[in-house]
Amino acid sequence: MTVTYDGLRIADADRCGELEAQLFPGDDPWPATAFIRELESEHNHYVAARVDGRLVGYAGITRLGRKPPFEYEIHTIGVDPAHQGAGIGRELLNRILDIAVGGVVFLEVRTDNAAAIGLYESVGFTKMGLRKRYYRVSGADAYTMRREAEVRA
Ligand SMILES: CC(C)(COP(=O)(O)OP(=O)(O)OC[C@H]1O[C@@H](n2cnc3c(N)ncnc32)[C@H](O)[C@@H]1OP(=O)(O)O)[C@@H](O)C(=O)NCCC(=O)NCCS
Repeated sequence: MTVTYDGLRIADADRCGELEAQLFPGDDPWPATAFIRELESEHNHYVAARVDGRLVGYAGITRLGRKPPFEYEIHTIGVDPAHQGAGIGRELLNRILDIAVGGVVFLEVRTDNAAAIGLYESVGFTKMGLRKRYYRVSGADAYTMRREAEVRA
């Protein structure tokens, strides 16, 4: 299986919405329109993973603040369940973190999402706080995580 990586495009929005519904069923998955809005913002950077031209993963990060030193926030990352566990999530994460070199990076993750927490910790994120009932639909809690500027993936 050959996986290729490039930029996420507006034309991918429908497929992203489809994957979100599969990956975050009880947690207000983003519709295609949310991806279009994300891709239209110049402060966001989204990457895509494809197998035989079909989108199997995506990840996005945003730059916060108007002037350096910038901070960054990971907005989303997802891999098609049929392709999880093959290193695609790690590669997507490394690619969006390349954008954030020299900056602190933040994210939120469900406290019961062991796979994502394991991935984030392996590239230098640490838990910094707990947001009770962060996910409004499910009522699940989130950890806020932080990765220091000097850490490299
Ligand atoms: C989190 C997610 C993006 C990881 O993608 P993936 O392609 O399966 O991950 P990889 O194969 O690159 O694995 C990377 C690391 O994740 C962790 N990981 C992956 N699956 C795991 C599991 N089932 N249990 C524990 N850790 C796991 C490991 O640290 C792994 O490192 P390793 O390669 O050294 O074992 C994927 O599971 C996913 O899409 N989950 C649903 C959406 C989601 O929860 N997104 C994050 C929201 S904050």
